[in-house]
Amino acid sequence: MSVSERIFKDPAVLQDARKDTAVLQDARKETTAVVQDARKDAGVLQDARTDRRIGAILVEQMKLTSEHVAQVLDAQRATGSRFGDMAVQLGLISADDLRRAIADQYDLPYLRPENRDVNSELVVTSQPFHPCAEQMRALRSQLLIRWANGGIRARMLAIVSPGRHEGRSYLAANLAVSFAQLGEPTLLIDADMRRPRQGRIFEVDEGVGLSAALSGRATLRSAVVPLPRFGRLSLLPAGARPPNPLELLSRDSFAILLHELQREYQVVLIDTPAAEPCADAQTVAFRAGGALVLARKDYTNLKATSRLIRALGDAGASVAGTVLNSF
Ligand SMILES: Nc1ncnc2c1ncn2[C@@H]1O[C@H](COP(=O)(O)OP(=O)(O)OP(=O)(O)O)[C@@H](O)[C@H]1O
Ligand SMILES: [Mg+2]
Repeated sequence: MSVSERIFKDPAVLQDARKDTAVLQDARKETTAVVQDARKDAGVLQDARTDRRIGAILVEQMKLTSEHVAQVLDAQRATGSRFGDMAVQLGLISADDLRRAIADQYDLPYLRPENRDVNSELVVTSQPFHPCAEQMRALRSQLLIRWANGGIRARMLAIVSPGRHEGRSYLAANLAVSFAQLGEPTLLIDADMRRPRQGRIFEVDEGVGLSAALSGRATLRSAVVPLPRFGRLSLLPAGARPPNPLELLSRDSFAILLHELQREYQVVLIDTPAAEPCADAQTVAFRAGGALVLARKDYTNLKATSRLIRALGDAGASVAGTVLNSF
């Protein structure tokens, strides 16, 4: 099989979250509608048994009294509405109370009201039932299966692609959140010290970061930022832009740093600059041992992708998979 066939034979496909806005689009405005859509999409919360459990959770959370529950059940019988919706309609709880109860019921931290205001690029959190978020989770599953089948314990991947604006940072951020949502201690490293983006995506100060840790100006511990609102996720931002990113990434200290981080985190994903104009991405992939190759539909040059895959092989980095990003 040729390299080009291999790339596009069965790539995981990501689709634009902005194109199909029917699902959960209005998360900020219409919490009740969100919950209903979420219910439909997840195929959950559809029977009376579930409604009773929501009632119990709301009582436990002291949002409803037993008199309130009786009142909601009466009204529910008359209208056939769901328990939570009826409780909101009767003004006994707020839409946020319901959302929080559902988040607790299904252990879906990203449904919590406080997580609605995250950057909309973090589609797995801002629109968790959007097809793009589903595809991120599918990609996560494929990687977990590959790692399990291959007996791979070092679950560290550089996210690479040949050119600019192909969606590496978007993929790295969303995939990292997906792993963290599973409860896997996950670290996202922004190794794009030329045009760092992860700090902005997660609204974290670039301040201390990879560049400071690599140049010995900061300890690794002080450079890593925990992001508890995303589950067990931490970010190592790129830090202040250095004049010599490739030189920093080529130092042994980078290999030592990755080795140390690997012991602490179950999954490490590394965002990289475009691979064609500079050797940073290949250097990172070589150090990480594995890479996920991204191609943007109708945009990425196929030959450039083939060249990149060959170069990664030559550098001794294994390609864990390919992703076709369609947006
Ligand atoms: N699947 C997608 N759906 C919707 N928007 C996307 C998708 N993938 C990427 N984007 C958007 O495209 C733009 C470019 O993506 P991103 O910054 O991740 O690309 P990049 O390859 O990291 O670019 P750079 O070369 O600047 O590092 C961003 O605005 C991002 O939100
Ligand atoms: Mg980027």
